[in-house]
Amino acid sequence: MKPRLLVARRLFPDVLAPLAAAYELDVHDSDQPLPPAALAARLQGCWGLLGSGTERVDAALLAACPTLQAVALVTVGFNNLDLAACRARGLRLSNAPGVLTEATADFGLALLLAAARRVGEGERFVRAGQWQGWAIDQFAGAPVAGTTLGVVGMGRIGTAIARRARHGFGMRIVYSQRSTSPEAEALQAQHLPLPDLLRQADHVVVMVPYGPDTHHLIGASELAWMKPSATLVNLARGGVVDDAALAAALQQGRLAAAGLDVFEGEPEVHPALLACPNAVLTPHIASSTLPTRRAMVQLAVDNLLAWADGRPGPTPI
Ligand code: DGY
Repeated sequence: MKPRLLVARRLFPDVLAPLAAAYELDVHDSDQPLPPAALAARLQGCWGLLGSGTERVDAALLAACPTLQAVALVTVGFNNLDLAACRARGLRLSNAPGVLTEATADFGLALLLAAARRVGEGERFVRAGQWQGWAIDQFAGAPVAGTTLGVVGMGRIGTAIARRARHGFGMRIVYSQRSTSPEAEALQAQHLPLPDLLRQADHVVVMVPYGPDTHHLIGASELAWMKPSATLVNLARGGVVDDAALAAALQQGRLAAAGLDVFEGEPEVHPALLACPNAVLTPHIASSTLPTRRAMVQLAVDNLLAWADGRPGPTPI
């Protein structure tokens, strides 16, 4: 008998197809995540879960699902997993690093440029029929080329953003993370403590994983260290930035602009952020090109097929 696998979201059926040779598939063919109780019910008798990064896998779920042995995620982020609980159960775990780096870095630059150069405000102005003609200081934004970019979290994606900023926009790069990175050194990037980075940078991109250590890493005090002309971009996870504090800084002119692809409690967005014209808000789509999203699913499939064969998968957590 094949082991049973719950696919917790609508994904790409053709990419999933090879799994049918190894698993009995139960596909929750929906863009709405299963609520925790429904997820636990649906996982009864399942050996594996193919998840989208939103399903909370913690001690309570594991206690309710004694047959669950493996979780493969289509995302690189895995803050939905309680790693201690998963390790205690000896679960096989995988995520999808690498394949989304370039698409996400492209989007980081898109959000930075859109926010700093007020693309959203200008676009809404034109669509509203308010444009009466060219004016000397209309929607004057902040310069980007030749300025200093602060990268908080110089992992794969942070480095790919820094590379674009350095080579494409002639930016000076400063970065913060626990250790120095050789790739960053090759970009002449300067390693700084977070407070110094926030004081020196003209624009800041946040790209650290979310967890207890990074909850509200950028809160009211950190925002107060930033230049009032600066832009903050969050591509990492909601919760790394304190959205209420950010909205207050944007409303009070203590920060010029923000570009946000992730939100605390998404898909809910803090109402104060929705009211900020100087925030560019996008629905967690930084990795969303079809080739990239297909590659993310493919990597989860590759891990699951390897496990079914008794081999280690390509991208274990
Ligand atoms: C990830 O892979 O963690 C992204 O946030 C999903 O696009």
